[in-house]
Amino acid sequence: MTIDTNKDGIIIAPSILSADFTRLKEALDTIENAGGDWVHIDVMDGHFVPNITIGPPVIKSIRKETKLFLDVHLMIEQPERLLNDFISSGADMITVHAESCTHLNRTLQVIRESGIKSGVSLNPATPLNVLDYVYDYVDMVLLMTVNPGFGGQAYIPQMTEKIITLRNMLNKNNPDVYLQIDGGISVNNISEVTAAGANVIVAGSAFFNASEKTSFVTELRQKSAFCRKKK
Ligand code: DX5
Ligand code: ZN
Repeated sequence: MTIDTNKDGIIIAPSILSADFTRLKEALDTIENAGGDWVHIDVMDGHFVPNITIGPPVIKSIRKETKLFLDVHLMIEQPERLLNDFISSGADMITVHAESCTHLNRTLQVIRESGIKSGVSLNPATPLNVLDYVYDYVDMVLLMTVNPGFGGQAYIPQMTEKIITLRNMLNKNNPDVYLQIDGGISVNNISEVTAAGANVIVAGSAFFNASEKTSFVTELRQKSAFCRKKK
């Protein structure tokens, strides 16, 4: 599956972490009907983060129920151990945390060589220079704008500066790489984070708490600064 931005250059990726897990099919339809672009799937192992969610079998079931791009965010220790299971589950992109990979370069290459997109994620306190030698191996950098583990947390204000710095680094090193942000994003800060340079937006609680999902997605797009990467 190819990645493409919408005409406004912003990809909206609702996170099913805030959905009712007994009604996932309904949540997938809701995302599609609301005009969401990707489905963001949060995988947590109770070690890398203090919470446990779902694994490859559930992603396999999700794959059967939607044509949307599956953006799988692995918040797990040693993701390389389960990489093949996640790859064969039907994920379109797998994002691993730099903090949890001993051999980040190798892990990203394994994902890429399987034919799907690769992403690398950084916790709020992780410096951007861990990206120095992986620009050519990633399709996306995911900046956590909360400490990973739970939905519904508040955006960390210092992350706006980090987004700006990363946007400049990407423009210099590999402008085709997507800049995703995850955590505490709502209609109240979408202008700020997109103006800073983010172009893939995860929204969990704000999406599932919105009474009118289509209006919510539309409002996110309308309030987004045009920040499409320069070709
Ligand atoms: C947090 C997850 C997020 C979460 C975001 O660790 O990675 O994807 O779903 O939830 P909100 O948008 O509620 O902050
Ligand atoms: Zn996530």
